Amino acid sequence: MLDNNSFAFICELLEDQAGIAIEADQDQFVACRLLPVAQKHRFDSLEPMITQLRTRNDRHLIQEVIESLVTHETSFFRDAHYFDELTERILPRLIARQAPERRLSIWCAACSTGQEAYSVAMILREQFAQHLNDWHIELLATDLSEISLQQARSGCYTDVEVRRGLTPARLTQHFRQDGDGWQIDDRLKRMVHFQQLNLTAVWPPFPTMDLILLRNVLVYMNPATREKILTRMQRVLHPEGRLILGSSESSGIPDARFATVRPGMK
Ligand SMILES: C[S@@+](CC[C@H](N)C(=O)[O-])C[C@H]1O[C@@H](n2cnc3c(N)ncnc32)[C@H](O)[C@@H]1O
Repeated sequence: MLDNNSFAFICELLEDQAGIAIEADQDQFVACRLLPVAQKHRFDSLEPMITQLRTRNDRHLIQEVIESLVTHETSFFRDAHYFDELTERILPRLIARQAPERRLSIWCAACSTGQEAYSVAMILREQFAQHLNDWHIELLATDLSEISLQQARSGCYTDVEVRRGLTPARLTQHFRQDGDGWQIDDRLKRMVHFQQLNLTAVWPPFPTMDLILLRNVLVYMNPATREKILTRMQRVLHPEGRLILGSSESSGIPDARFATVRPGMK
């Protein structure tokens, strides 16, 4: 469905625009993901769409192609032991350290459709609401994908999505049923600020972050891109802050603030 040149072009485009590396044997996968985009734009096949991508700087089409190829997989409280570690150790320490300033800045970089950021917001409300009363809490959540961010901002999730990772008690406490789906509580929605950000592009100025969740995105990138992003993260992170990577990721950078959380860690 995709000739070698077109496949190579798409791989370069994705690497160039999003830092995502595609394996040499993923041509079928790429073709399957691109086909709905081509159909939506009424191209007869993939090749004319790829010609358009090559010859015109069509930002909308490029963005749609990129979004169709990146993995948006996420869920509430994904890898639950991370959230146990956040609740039991990481957040209490950060809150104790920040008590004089009464200010806490958290960044979920690559937040997909918002479940990760809302999981952090739920923990803050459930466990730390009293401590954090009249604190300035900044919970920033960014992603490359505008489509994912639209859902994140809406706070609307399907039945299947809320059943992945939420206990019945949390569902009752933080959501209300809305037709076939579920709507997150407005107070949680107001806690999170969603913003489009490509981690490989220029970043706007950020406040110093006490905690950064950078989970399950570097795994799709090549080592040079990972290192570049992590080096920039080092500058944004508080000298005693924590950056949390996904369970199959490691930084390769000797920085005590970077962590992969393993089940049962103390
Ligand atoms: C697999 S999801 C991970 C979501 C969440 N962090 C989690 O662990 O459940 C990866 C997300 O990274 C985003 N992403 C990929 N490349 C990116 C980039 N260069 N800049 C920002 N976000 C990116 C994708 O749009 C996708 O939503």
